[in-house]
Amino acid sequence: MISVPVAVAGGAYEVTVGEGLLAEAGARVRALAPAVRRVPVVTDRTVAALHLPHLLDGLAAAGLEGLPLLVPPGEAAKSFPELARLVDALLATGVSRSGLVLALGGGVVGDLAGFAAAIVKRGIPFVQIPTTLLAMVDSSVGGKTGINTAAGKNLVGAFHQPVAVWADPSLLATLPERERRAGYAEVVKYGLLGDSGFFGWLEAHGLAALAGDRAALGHAIATSVRAKAAIVARDPEERHDIRALLNLGHTFGHALEAECGYSDRLLHGEAVAIGMAQAFRFSAREGLCPPGDVARVEAHLAAAGLPVRLPLPAGRLLAHMLHDKKKTEAGLPFILVRGIGQAFVAHGVPLERVRAFLAADEGAA
Ligand SMILES: NC(=O)c1ccc[n+]([C@@H]2O[C@H](COP(=O)([O-])OP(=O)(O)OC[C@H]3O[C@@H](n4cnc5c(N)ncnc54)[C@H](O)[C@@H]3O)[C@@H](O)[C@H]2O)c1
Ligand SMILES: [Zn+2]
Repeated sequence: MISVPVAVAGGAYEVTVGEGLLAEAGARVRALAPAVRRVPVVTDRTVAALHLPHLLDGLAAAGLEGLPLLVPPGEAAKSFPELARLVDALLATGVSRSGLVLALGGGVVGDLAGFAAAIVKRGIPFVQIPTTLLAMVDSSVGGKTGINTAAGKNLVGAFHQPVAVWADPSLLATLPERERRAGYAEVVKYGLLGDSGFFGWLEAHGLAALAGDRAALGHAIATSVRAKAAIVARDPEERHDIRALLNLGHTFGHALEAECGYSDRLLHGEAVAIGMAQAFRFSAREGLCPPGDVARVEAHLAAAGLPVRLPLPAGRLLAHMLHDKKKTEAGLPFILVRGIGQAFVAHGVPLERVRAFLAADEGAA
């Protein structure tokens, strides 16, 4: 078991990475909330069929009763109607502020259950039990929770830090390969944004981790969590230019996702892979980053089975970027790079240069 502390004001917590965490869930709940006997467990139907029985058994082993609350799988669950249903269901369990809610699932379950936990009785403690690679290395850590609205993704939500995160890599054995690869893009992101040594390690061992090598997978997840924890501790609510570094590849990526209608045509992690490659290509075009680093990034993403380009109309992508929630009065911030492991926030990048880059990128495909 690897334990990574996340130091945030008003409630430090630990991310535990290791196998067998579901079996230990009861003992761990008792340590966090000694008075609790009945524990709501939010999960989606797909994850419930695969992993819920093990979690319920783990709770029962410590004399606790898990109360499953099921949401539909997929992004559509992050909606006001599903939130309302979940909030009612949580209230019906009688859960109190001295209780605990468990969120078992990917980023969708974590974001929705975390937001429900944030607003029920003005805040119920909750534990993230991520079941996708993306959720283990990204969404379960850092306290961002929320839902989507007609105006866009993640526009309604709250910061509500979990009281613990239990990331068991063995749960990824059932995850479809495409989802695993997509989550891997966020792992690569940590190397690219601030840790060239980790990127070098991924070049050597990342494919083994992806293929399920337990030691490599555990190391990749723990290193990613450490990187995210360090950034979140320095800038918990994204008020400075620190947490924004986690958006490497995301301004370009969100535009691609929006253009694809947030459909199965392009998963989030796939969009991030292309977006990171674009951030490197754009940085090289601006004379900021050595072309050799661009080649390494593209080669590794491609070796991991991730896309590095998608030819879509430059004008439409730029229009999506201007609707991005991160648009500020000072203009669109872009996360650019001086090389592998050296990302920075660039304010006031002239949009004409971005447009020219996207047009050239479109043509180069
Ligand atoms: N809060 C944050 O900081 C943050 C960060 C990044 C992303 N997100 C959010 O995370 C969401 C995406 O998360 P995701 O990629 O985990 O998607 P997801 O939660 O939709 O899971 C992907 C699919 O895999 C299934 N699944 C989950 N675990 C499984 C397992 N172990 N075996 C088999 N199938 C499994 C799910 O049912 C779902 O169909 C987005 O809504 C995004 O906005 C949040
Ligand atoms: Zn992401």
